[in-house]
Amino acid sequence: MDIEIQPVTQPKTRLEDESQLVFGRQFTDRMFVMEYDAGRGWHSARIQPYAPFSLDPAALVLHYAQEIFEGLKAFRHQDGAIALFRPMDNIRRFNRSAQRLCMPPVDEKFFLKALKELIRLESDWIPSAEGTSLYIRPTMIATEAVLGVKPSDKYLCYIILSPVGAYYKGGFKPVKIWISDQFIRSAPGGTGEVKCGGNYAASLLAARQAAEKGFDQVLWLDAVERKYVEEVGSMNICFLYDGKIVTSPLHGTILNGVTRRSILQLATEMGYQIEERAMSVDELLDGAESGRLAEAFGTGTAAVVSPVGQLTYQDRTVTIGDGQVGELTLKLFKALTSIQYGRHPDPHDWVVKI
Ligand code: COI
Repeated sequence: MDIEIQPVTQPKTRLEDESQLVFGRQFTDRMFVMEYDAGRGWHSARIQPYAPFSLDPAALVLHYAQEIFEGLKAFRHQDGAIALFRPMDNIRRFNRSAQRLCMPPVDEKFFLKALKELIRLESDWIPSAEGTSLYIRPTMIATEAVLGVKPSDKYLCYIILSPVGAYYKGGFKPVKIWISDQFIRSAPGGTGEVKCGGNYAASLLAARQAAEKGFDQVLWLDAVERKYVEEVGSMNICFLYDGKIVTSPLHGTILNGVTRRSILQLATEMGYQIEERAMSVDELLDGAESGRLAEAFGTGTAAVVSPVGQLTYQDRTVTIGDGQVGELTLKLFKALTSIQYGRHPDPHDWVVKI
């Protein structure tokens, strides 16, 4: 399929000061769009000016949330080169999400080509200040206008781009996390490992309650026993426990994070043993108090590696280590970002230059 390139007649005004960039509030001039019709497949691929869509009020996505998305980043290297980080991992996960929600897959090679072409055209928008990048948001929505609950016969798939700074307002600072004993994020057999909007919508009430109490994020426990740590709202979570890295296993209820996978690999190469196992909330809190839990950090495309300083569960609050950024957390953050920003070699071939 060819990609039609449409001209941009009214370029947007850019934020001059890159240090003021926040997460996901500014979008570039162009977006990639393609449409799907049952019996015809994907068609009308184009890179067009960024603009609102016109949707039928009965479009299935607006009623039954048949929607998936991805998040990946492009980085500006010091020599001006542009690098994507593990884009095929995201594209493959996009298709796994599509399959779970009965949506049509995209052609992976074509999608990567479209992504690269869009970024090439928008390359001026990629910031270069420390900690900034171009966040890429591929999305697919069901557009058929019908109120019966069924998979749509029509879809829109698009990619938008946003120059971003740090995900958390405080930047690379330890976050305070609230462990929810009331709400759950996902259950076995559900859509926990799917990157779909519905998962995030269902997390909002707990997140709002956490924010009202002064916490940055919610840590979810498993749905069956309400006992084992799963993941945080916008990131996977890892613990440095008894000198090993412990993180929840991929059993379908948590997101199979690209950053999680990368960090586990880097930590293995640093000589750390990885334990993908269930960790109970009691083990976690007791570990923080006894010192067996030395560090905790989240991993995610938006959050990168995010130190966790404090955990609260019911009426118990524990500080992790001295509440500051842990040594390993910083080391892993630096190892990952050095590869992403091209400061260190990339022996894993994670970086795809444009
Ligand atoms: C990401 O890390 O890319 C995410 O999608 C998390 C969040 C911003 C929804």
